[in-house]
Amino acid sequence: MDALEALMSRRSIRNYSDQPVTEDQLETVLRAAMAAPSAGNQQSWRFIVVTDEAQRETLSQATPYSGMISRAPVALVICGDTRAEKHPGYWVQDCSAAIENLLVAAHAIGLGAVWIGVHPVVERADNVRAACGIPEGIEPMSMIALGHPLETKPPSERYEPQYVHRDRWQG
Ligand SMILES: Cc1cc2nc3c(=O)[nH]c(=O)nc-3n(C[C@H](O)[C@H](O)[C@H](O)COP(=O)(O)O)c2cc1C
Repeated sequence: MDALEALMSRRSIRNYSDQPVTEDQLETVLRAAMAAPSAGNQQSWRFIVVTDEAQRETLSQATPYSGMISRAPVALVICGDTRAEKHPGYWVQDCSAAIENLLVAAHAIGLGAVWIGVHPVVERADNVRAACGIPEGIEPMSMIALGHPLETKPPSERYEPQYVHRDRWQG
């Protein structure tokens, strides 16, 4: 699968088989995540890999929309390290770029994944922080559920030419 095909056919996968994610697969997706661009190359992303069943159950309840974490063999908690920032405030963009890379890489190697929003909802971030013992200065940003897909979805065509403006805002 080439890069464009992977980008255009990735979908959110919320049902997973029991097949484990191998350490090689995990390293591949984490390498892809850390290949992302970041502000001033500050690489403010941090990752917590969660496989423990009880911990996944706790994280599955951290937001109203994270139930699939209890069914996925792996959950990833993506955090921004504000202490490592050269360009304050850009950690959200850094982490977002890393997450998208990770999702596309997972799809390209036959895994399925879904992005689960945490930041900026304070209650969700507090829940994730408490569950994972995340210290001050590290901001829980999002979670990802990852596994072997038990569902297939067709590509979703979303191209909207009217969303594109030329030279100045028109209309
Ligand atoms: C910032 C962000 C937060 C999201 N949060 C959740 C979530 O909490 N739970 C969930 O099931 N999906 C979540 N998603 C996935 C979206 O629902 C999904 O990407 C969207 O419906 C488009 O579908 P697709 O990913 O299959 O193309 C999130 C996606 C983004 C980018």
